[in-house]
Amino acid sequence: MTQRTLVLLKPDAVRRNLVGEILGRIEAKAGWTFAGLELRQLDRATLEQHYEEHIGKPFYEPLVEFMLSGPVVVLVVEGERVIEGVRRLTGPTDPIAAEPGSIRGDFGTIVRENLIHASDSEESAIRELKIFFPGLS
Ligand code: PPS
Repeated sequence: MTQRTLVLLKPDAVRRNLVGEILGRIEAKAGWTFAGLELRQLDRATLEQHYEEHIGKPFYEPLVEFMLSGPVVVLVVEGERVIEGVRRLTGPTDPIAAEPGSIRGDFGTIVRENLIHASDSEESAIRELKIFFPGLS
């Protein structure tokens, strides 16, 4: 089941020079490839679209401010079961609850600064890829 998923390496991952480490973990999975890869400063309108289901939640504004605080790596990963697979590599939202061996479990401590976003379902992947890579065929 070949899929595509949208991954963001958040501003903390870029600031902490963890981009190579995180990309390496994803790239090392057999058969997975990068179909799009860019360092990008996001704007508020894009983040409002991306996080629209969370508008009004207490963490929404701090999350958007954090995502605006520096450039992010915007990435499309393509391959066998990448949606579930990248989420497994990432670990759960709270880095302290994330297993050692996962990206958040190995490098994170703070919920807001949890290093990476990955689409959580096929529906989300399709929606998010349209926002970040509208030209992708
Ligand atoms: S929810 O409410 O269960 O759907 O939330 P969740 O899926 O865990 O998280 C949605 C996104 O919000 C981020 N998040 C936070 N950011 C800052 N502070 C706090 N407290 C916080 N809680 C959740 C979380 O990392 C998710 O962002 P992405 O980019 O998808 O990782």
